Amino acid sequence: MEYRTLGDSGLQVSVAGLGTNNFGGRCDLEQTKAVVHKAIEVGLNFIDTAESYGRGLSEEFIGKAIEGHRQEVLLTTKFGGRGKPGTGGRSYIKNAVHGSLQRLNTDYIDMLSIHFPDPSTPIEETMRALDDLVRAGDVRYLGCSNFAAWQLVEAEWAAKTAHSSPFIASQNPYSLLQRNVEQDLAPACVKYGVGVIPYSPLAGGFLTGKYRQNEAPTEGTRLAGGQGARQLNDDNFAKLAKLETFAHEHDHTVGELALAWLASQPFVGSVIAGATKPEQVEENVRAIEWHLSAEDMKALDEAMGVGAEPMRGGPGR
Ligand SMILES: NC(=O)c1ccc[n+]([C@@H]2O[C@H](COP(=O)([O-])OP(=O)(O)OC[C@H]3O[C@@H](n4cnc5c(N)ncnc54)[C@H](OP(=O)(O)O)[C@@H]3O)[C@@H](O)[C@H]2O)c1
Repeated sequence: MEYRTLGDSGLQVSVAGLGTNNFGGRCDLEQTKAVVHKAIEVGLNFIDTAESYGRGLSEEFIGKAIEGHRQEVLLTTKFGGRGKPGTGGRSYIKNAVHGSLQRLNTDYIDMLSIHFPDPSTPIEETMRALDDLVRAGDVRYLGCSNFAAWQLVEAEWAAKTAHSSPFIASQNPYSLLQRNVEQDLAPACVKYGVGVIPYSPLAGGFLTGKYRQNEAPTEGTRLAGGQGARQLNDDNFAKLAKLETFAHEHDHTVGELALAWLASQPFVGSVIAGATKPEQVEENVRAIEWHLSAEDMKALDEAMGVGAEPMRGGPGR
């Protein structure tokens, strides 16, 4: 397993991470334990959850699954929700962390992230409240999620001005099908020492190639549910066909390409694919052993018809 320093911090995260929004929903406790134990066995240490996943059950199941293994994993959780005013406020954060610590059955969270920006709360209040948690020892590092580049920069400056803890990671949707973070967010992250944590790296499983055009999705799979309508369209299948050709030419599967391509981006910290089975963990860990060269990355962009335009503002420092 390859490990990387996350942003400008002392946190060493496994490049293959584990997403857990299936836990407490489509994965029961036994399935959760099987996935988490496999992750630990193969050296995957970065486990991403949120107070909202499975309405708290994801954290609770993870807490049970890591009993006796706390030192082998880094727990990262998130508080708040989309469009919920006040979730960046001091009271909300304090209560949320208290709940997460209990459910995760731990006395510290390795990284705590704000799940969505909260425009109703001054960012200065959010950063101070988060810093208090770091100083109290409840939380080791801070991150954000779904922030635009300007919101990330505003937060980092609020922390800098107050001499308080900055964000070291930014979690955003990023995959071979959704690359807009490359325009503004990634250059801001590079400049401010923030690692990018791509979420939905497999586009909900679509990029593994297990969904075929004009065929009904296998029952029980993620995209057989409501999310399928968004991903299973002609445009995505056309892109998938090009990606599959590229992957096969390099003796890999398209799922391996999806994860290895993200891991090959220097600004990416950990790739948190949401596995539902131990075999998927093994496959996803194996995938990131493929290091795409600069030529491979360029050839892939050309095959996909993506312009060779560099990141806006250059790669920063
Ligand atoms: N910050 C945010 O707002 C936010 C939003 C979304 C997600 N996240 C985080 O990011 C994580 C990853 O995103 P995601 O779970 O939405 O999407 P994802 O990782 O792109 O896809 C997850 C799905 O892919 C399938 N899968 C995984 N590994 C596979 C393999 N080796 N072979 C075949 N299928 C495989 C599983 O499908 P089946 O269920 O069919 O087995 C799983 O449900 C989440 O779990 C969560 O921790 C964060």
